[in-house]
Amino acid sequence: MRGRGGAGFPAGIKWRTVAEAAGPVKYIVCNADEGDSGTFADRMVMEGDPFALIEGMAIAAFAVGAQKGFIYVRSEYPDAIAKLDVAIRLAAEDIAPFRIELRVGAGAYICGEETSLLNSLEGKRGEVRAKPPLPALQGLFGKPTVVNNVLTLAAVPHILADGAEGYAALGTGRSRGTMPIQLAGNIKHGGLFETAFGLTLGEIVNDIGGGTASGRPVKAVQVGGPLGAYLPPSMFHLPFDYEAFAAADALIGHAGVVVFDDTADMLAQARFSMAFTAAESCGKCTPCRIGAVRGVELIDRIAAGGGRAAGPLERLPQMRNVNARPRSLEEEIGLLTDLCETMKFGSLCALGGFAPYPVMSALCHWPQDFGLAPAVEAAQ
Ligand SMILES: Cc1cc2nc3c(=O)[nH]c(=O)nc-3n(C[C@H](O)[C@H](O)[C@H](O)COP(=O)(O)O)c2cc1C
Ligand code: SF4
Repeated sequence: MRGRGGAGFPAGIKWRTVAEAAGPVKYIVCNADEGDSGTFADRMVMEGDPFALIEGMAIAAFAVGAQKGFIYVRSEYPDAIAKLDVAIRLAAEDIAPFRIELRVGAGAYICGEETSLLNSLEGKRGEVRAKPPLPALQGLFGKPTVVNNVLTLAAVPHILADGAEGYAALGTGRSRGTMPIQLAGNIKHGGLFETAFGLTLGEIVNDIGGGTASGRPVKAVQVGGPLGAYLPPSMFHLPFDYEAFAAADALIGHAGVVVFDDTADMLAQARFSMAFTAAESCGKCTPCRIGAVRGVELIDRIAAGGGRAAGPLERLPQMRNVNARPRSLEEEIGLLTDLCETMKFGSLCALGGFAPYPVMSALCHWPQDFGLAPAVEAAQ
């Protein structure tokens, strides 16, 4: 069972680490922050079958020796919060001595990142913690902690009931089992479709989703939330599989699939991704805190066709001789590429680290939207 929150990390390894960690106090934390654009699978599980999640948490607690669990749910889910509240009280006797407490987040995207979430649960600012130490060894209040997504935990009772082999028989490669794929955006049949890993992106968008709601051709599909790459129809052969997506510089994340038709402006989408990161950055590391702001400025200059006067940083006296001249469109794009590399390899967490994916995929597949010559695949 690989974690369904985004990173696809094997739950068993995490559980074993917590089980083997020293000390009497351990925690199970369910990540129900569900911040990715176009995703709602966690919400549907919590509203439709909250006991599956509670049972999964109780099994996890039994497996690792935890006494207390927390569900960190986003405030935008009032129905899920109300259902969970009742379900936790109804289940209290059955899961004792394990206890579950519900905590409502205040709406920061970064509080879905596990270490920020733990800080937030502790009543601190939702800022990312450097790893190591891993949360499995020093997590909530410094104690060994399992942090798992709603879908990961809610699948556990089914795996135990039906047998691991049955679950593992579904899927492809190292992506085993099923995934609730969430179809959103400009799509004819939006909604949640749980299916085994391995369908191609084209089958998901066209056969299940029925293509765009507008009836116009698909231009781009963003998979994996606001930090996921934009994929063109020429990549519809990609199987829904963690490794295949990673090899294509894309991510499956929480399996949100957002569809855009041919009226989408991919430069505007790239700007949106950078602006989102600038707004949601926790501010702990420089590549993301400053890089995302500079990225928005750069994309704005590219939108204006390049050639604008240099920005405030370049107007500093010591920089004047080097950079204080208008840059060409190609130079601005070179700078954006360089910035994206810095963010990708220099950021502390995946918010800054993955922000370049939507930007660079938009630039790579739709260069004409950035004022450059069309890519060969896009021209076909
Ligand atoms: C910026 C950012 C936002 C995240 N948001 C979520 C989220 O909303 N829900 C979630 O389950 N995981 C989210 N994650 C992943 C968590 O850090 C963590 O990997 C996950 O909760 C582990 O559970 P899993 O192994 O069951 O997926 C996010 C990660 C990052 C970097
Ligand atoms: S990448 Fe962004 S969100 Fe992540 S630690 Fe750095 S500043 Fe915070």
